[in-house]
Amino acid sequence: MIVMGVESSCDETGVGIVRWNGDGTCELLADEVASSVDQHARYGGVVPEVASRAHLEAIVPTMRRALTAAGIGKPDALAVTIGPGLAGALLVGVAAAKAYAAAWDIPFYAVNHLGGHVAVDTLEHGPMPPCVALLVSGGHTHLLHVEDLAKPITELGTTVDDAAGEAFDKVARLLGLGFPGGPALDAAAQHGDRNAIPFPRGMTGPKDARHDFSFSGLKTAVARYVESKERAGENYSVPDIAASFQEAVADVLTMKAVRAARDVGVATLVLGGGATANSRIRSLAEERCAEAGLTLRVPKPRLCTDNGVMIASLGAHVIAGGAAPSLLTVASDPGLSV
Ligand code: KG4
Ligand code: ZN
Repeated sequence: MIVMGVESSCDETGVGIVRWNGDGTCELLADEVASSVDQHARYGGVVPEVASRAHLEAIVPTMRRALTAAGIGKPDALAVTIGPGLAGALLVGVAAAKAYAAAWDIPFYAVNHLGGHVAVDTLEHGPMPPCVALLVSGGHTHLLHVEDLAKPITELGTTVDDAAGEAFDKVARLLGLGFPGGPALDAAAQHGDRNAIPFPRGMTGPKDARHDFSFSGLKTAVARYVESKERAGENYSVPDIAASFQEAVADVLTMKAVRAARDVGVATLVLGGGATANSRIRSLAEERCAEAGLTLRVPKPRLCTDNGVMIASLGAHVIAGGAAPSLLTVASDPGLSV
């Protein structure tokens, strides 16, 4: 069975093609991504209208490139991200996937973007045991409980305000480091002291929800710190601020992820989303998983960011699990939760 996956929930137009191996894993046949990230840089964040237009221009050429790369005329089934994501952006991928599925007369499956971030790891690291997944990107911060990729996923927690990647981007902008700010902030932090400034750890008090996150207070604390230094005419160290901010984010993310895995009784933690490229999130996750006796699985950076392969992989699991195809009348669902 060869499955094509179409992804258009944010600023990446992704088309992936995989072959289902029948053992809970897939083989990668094509991975084509067209990103509009450069077009958003001057706005300091993803502009939905700009993203939608870029998807519209990229979707058909990206599908064609994927078919050529895989050396096939058409797949056996088509999976598409139905949500969550930007409304106009999702519409483009869903409309294209429906049109191609109808024209090719193949089954069409609407799948949840978040599950795709977990399913993609089976390409590199084998079948997925029951796990907790920590997804961190510019658009999402989620803790998920995945018992079986073919079945619905349970959300354990999410952010009550900013996504973790969004907090990186906003703090990077405040520090004059550019967009997307995550990689630049990570680089600046390499030269700083992560214990220099004790920034707050959001939602870690005894009355806070165990698996939810909050990053807006941290972002404000960084802004206040910079303002107070400037008002007093004192120097401050951008690398120290970057390293201390990054430490606060990585500390809360990894502490809550390990706690969630313990609470639901799984032995595996999976990371996904573009912000898992962060050096400190990775090293602290490794340290804490080793201490807790958990297996840590992290897809390679190319597959951590949004792509079509993750949707193809999830689609293959869902199809193999015996799900009925989706109707061509199904609508995209920007606010879809798990
Ligand atoms: O998954 P992704 O490519 O796209 C979406 O969010 O849709 O994730 C991008 C996010 C951005 O917020 C970016 O700043 C962040 O991931 N990011 C990082 C790093 N690399 C990317 N954040 C922190 N440290 C990094 N090294
Ligand atoms: Zn994503």
